[in-house]
Amino acid sequence: MQFLDSQTIVSDNQHKIVFWINTIEQYQELMGQLHSNFTIQPALFQYLCKDTHTLLVFTKLLETGALVSTAQANLIPDLVTTRAMINNVVTHRDCRSCGYGRITMEYLERRAVELWKVKGQSLRLFLTNSPSKRNSGFYVSLGYRPLTDPGVLETTGYTVLWCKDM
Ligand SMILES: CC(C)(COP(=O)(O)OP(=O)(O)OC[C@H]1O[C@@H](n2cnc3c(N)ncnc32)[C@H](O)[C@@H]1OP(=O)(O)O)[C@@H](O)C(=O)NCCC(=O)NCCS
Repeated sequence: MQFLDSQTIVSDNQHKIVFWINTIEQYQELMGQLHSNFTIQPALFQYLCKDTHTLLVFTKLLETGALVSTAQANLIPDLVTTRAMINNVVTHRDCRSCGYGRITMEYLERRAVELWKVKGQSLRLFLTNSPSKRNSGFYVSLGYRPLTDPGVLETTGYTVLWCKDM
């Protein structure tokens, strides 16, 4: 698939979310490509959309409205270093390698900095991946550094912790 124009929004914009009413069904389908048997509870989805410690980002194609990519960040409040954990990063299997994952992640990072970065401190972003999924290059391309060596762990099935200071 080639790159088509897209729009990215974040869950802290309640006004827009109301108009993206079909997002929840598409989110369920997209997340099912990451977690088998994924079932979303609508009340939990709405709770997360309103939660000030959670950012959910959605990238949709302008032409069709199809949800192509998503990512989530959760604030971990701390008096010394403000940290956030990124999870549930997935691009629709028909739309990979077109740049939507980067668009989604960079939008998520910008919004996290705007909302959560404390003056004079770094905002430290963490995420994990399983090297067996062979997606480490995605996080390297986005500027994350592994806190464990993905090469060493490639055959072990362990999870790698990645970090980026904003
Ligand atoms: C990993 C994933 C989210 C990447 O999304 P994507 O939309 O295909 O990524 P993009 O097209 O935006 O790629 C952005 C950059 O990452 C690189 N990249 C993406 N996937 C890669 C991979 N599997 N291996 C190496 N590099 C990769 C691209 O080459 C691109 O590099 P560049 O911008 O420097 O040229 C997507 O492949 C996916 O959903 N995989 C299955 C679910 C998954 O593994 N999620 C992460 C759980 S930890």
